[in-house]
Amino acid sequence: MRGRFITFEGGEGGGKSTQAALLAQHLRATGIGVLVTREPGGSPGAEIIRHVILSGAAKPLGADAETILFAAARDDHIRMTIEPALSAGTWVICDRFLDSTRVYQGLLGHVDRKLIRALERVVVGSLMPDLTFVMDVPAEVGLERAAGRRGNDNADRFESETIDFHEKLRRAFAALAKVDADRCVLIDAAQPREMIHDTIWKVVAERFGLAARIKVGAGGR
Ligand code: TYD
Repeated sequence: MRGRFITFEGGEGGGKSTQAALLAQHLRATGIGVLVTREPGGSPGAEIIRHVILSGAAKPLGADAETILFAAARDDHIRMTIEPALSAGTWVICDRFLDSTRVYQGLLGHVDRKLIRALERVVVGSLMPDLTFVMDVPAEVGLERAAGRRGNDNADRFESETIDFHEKLRRAFAALAKVDADRCVLIDAAQPREMIHDTIWKVVAERFGLAARIKVGAGGR
């Protein structure tokens, strides 16, 4: 059976990668094969593009070109990493995916929605995530966490934007989660991480019928 595709989205410092790792661990404990990956990046070609974008080298090319670069990275990532895993029955958990482009480049970067939708059609096609967690955290808390994690390294291309940008980012992600409510679940990411994981696990177990699977497994032992 084809694997499930789960993505984590949200602003900076919302704990996406921590929660992705905890979810992967929990799924593996139930016997499911899981691949954790991230964007931009996740395949050798896409990692090169990641470096170009996050170093800020592509910024002078303009927002449209940056959007096209994110799409090129996503295309490689899907073909080389995500699709082969899903076809093999492995579940894929991805830290950021197309919603990040919709929010960062579209809603905040004012890139024409038509360009974004056209790139989605070409690159993503029918490979929409089965489930998306949108991590919601106040901008100051998220940026503080991101800065703490970074230590003495410089802020990347997007972390160095203003607090106002990050508040707008938060609102944009929350709005997007509302519009796409069948696929997206908004998570209060200011809670302790174990509580967040419990919430996420309940949603995953219910959405994909894992509660029944675990009971069957336990009963059979
Ligand atoms: P990363 O270091 O992975 O940050 P984070 O921990 O916040 O995920 O950097 C990815 C940055 O790229 C992040 O600021 C969001 C941005 N981004 C876009 O602007 N558009 C996109 O389509 C994607 C995937 C990421």
